[in-house]
Parts: sequence; C-alpha cells; structure tokens
Amino acid sequence: MAKVIIFSGAGISAESGISTFRDTGGLWEEYDIKDVCTAGCLETNRDMTIEFYNKGRVALKDKQPNKTHYEIKKLQDKYPNDIKIITQNVDDLFEKAGCQKVLHLHGFITEINCEQCGYIQDIGYKPIQSHTICPNCKNFLRPNIVFFGEPVPKYRELFKEIDDCEIFVIIGSSGNVINTDFLLSVSDVKYSILNNLEYSNAINDKLYTKVIYRKATEAIDEIVADIIKYLQNVQ
Ligand code: APR
Repeated sequence: MAKVIIFSGAGISAESGISTFRDTGGLWEEYDIKDVCTAGCLETNRDMTIEFYNKGRVALKDKQPNKTHYEIKKLQDKYPNDIKIITQNVDDLFEKAGCQKVLHLHGFITEINCEQCGYIQDIGYKPIQSHTICPNCKNFLRPNIVFFGEPVPKYRELFKEIDDCEIFVIIGSSGNVINTDFLLSVSDVKYSILNNLEYSNAINDKLYTKVIYRKATEAIDEIVADIIKYLQNVQ
C-alpha cells in the first residue's frame, strides 16, 4: 500500500475548464441531480441522462491536464510505490498527464458498461445512442458512472488504501459526498493537507495538519515539497 494518498475532487480539474459540482456556476446549478445522476434515472429519464454524459464526454476531448496533474505525475514517477492517486472525478486528466493506476471511485466517463454482465467498453470521447446494446447479453449499455443511491464498489479499495497511508492530501473536494474528516478519523495518518479554494461546511479544517485555501495550481509546489520532505525523512 502507498504511504501517500492524493485524494481529489472536481476542484483539481476546475483550472482545466471542467465545471465543479457545488461551487457557484457548478454543474448542479444547471442540472438537477435527481434528473441525471440518481439511481433509476436511466429508467425514468434515459434520454436526458445519456445526453448529459454525452456532452461531458465530447467536451472532455479538448480538455488538458493542468500544472497540478503534471506535478502529481512527476511525484508518482519519483516515488512509484509510495503515491496512490484516488479521485472522485470521472474525467481522464490524470491519465492524459501520464499518471498510473488512478482509482476512479465514481466511474470513468470515457467508458460505457453493462450492469447485467459486467462488460466494459472504452469509447473515448464519442457520444452514444440512448439504447446502445451490449454485445454479450443484449442489455442496454450505460455510462460507466456511479449515480447517487447506487452501490460504490470502489469504496472498498479506498478504505484499504486509507488504512495504511501516512500522508493524506485532499485537493479540490468539498467533502459533501465523501466525508474526508471521517476518512482521516479511521486512519493512522500522520500528516494531512487540505487544499480547496475556500472553506467548506462539510469539512472541519481544524483536523488537518495544513490547510491551503488557494487554487490547486498555486498550492501544488508547496504540497509536493511537503510530501518529498516527509518521504525523505522516513526512508
Ligand atoms: N483549486 C482547488 N480547489 C478548488 C478549485 C481550484 N482551482 N476550484 C474549486 N475548488 C474546490 C472548491 O473550494 C470545493 O471545495 O473544489 C471543491 C469542489 O467541490 P464539489 O463541487 O462539491 O466537488 P466534489 O467534492 O468533487 O464532489 C464530489 O459529488 O456530485 C458528485 O459525483 C460527483 O464526484 C462528485 C462528488
């Protein structure tokens, strides 16, 4: 297991031009969660749901990683066994930056999947039809995204990783969906960094060793320097 977890949310991709969910102007002001991202919406509102993810997938084609993604990639190259990247984001900006083995907790927008047989297809940045058929079992395929109210199988892996980590870094998450205070409380983390643009009501920032309320691209050099200092001292 890795010593360092870099845990990110929508804020890390904001500077690449991908909207966050809950900030002013965020996606959940434009769309209602219950219409496009809640268990059952593929049955009750299939066309709009498919269209919502089609738009996001097509728009992702031209989005590029920013300095934060690239600095994390450099850090992972330097300490391949010690850095685990875990994200709530469904975009592929870490992968575009060259990062390895990223754990996407809430799915991956460039994939579609079959709930019945487990088939997964990489479709890149292409839109799909509402009723795309699974080549194996003829069920309908769907965006490989976890909707609210659906089980999140990857959380098991998240908890395994958290169990052993020593440094926990949060970049760009409001803590509304995954409670980072809780993750901290069930771990033996020795050093934690919280980097958001501003205070979130869902996070008790007093629990974190260091708090940086600044754009991630402005904070990342300090974050990387802290991680390297810690890793050099323990090795
Ligand atoms: N640099 C650092 N932090 C930023 C930046 C930036 N440039 N821009 C915004 N932020 C911070 C905000 O301060 C906020 O705390 O990113 C956070 C974004 O919060 P949310 O929009 O709630 O996103 P996130 O926490 O990732 O949402 C979690 O909710 O809707 C679901 O499934 C969706 O995975 C997503 C989950």
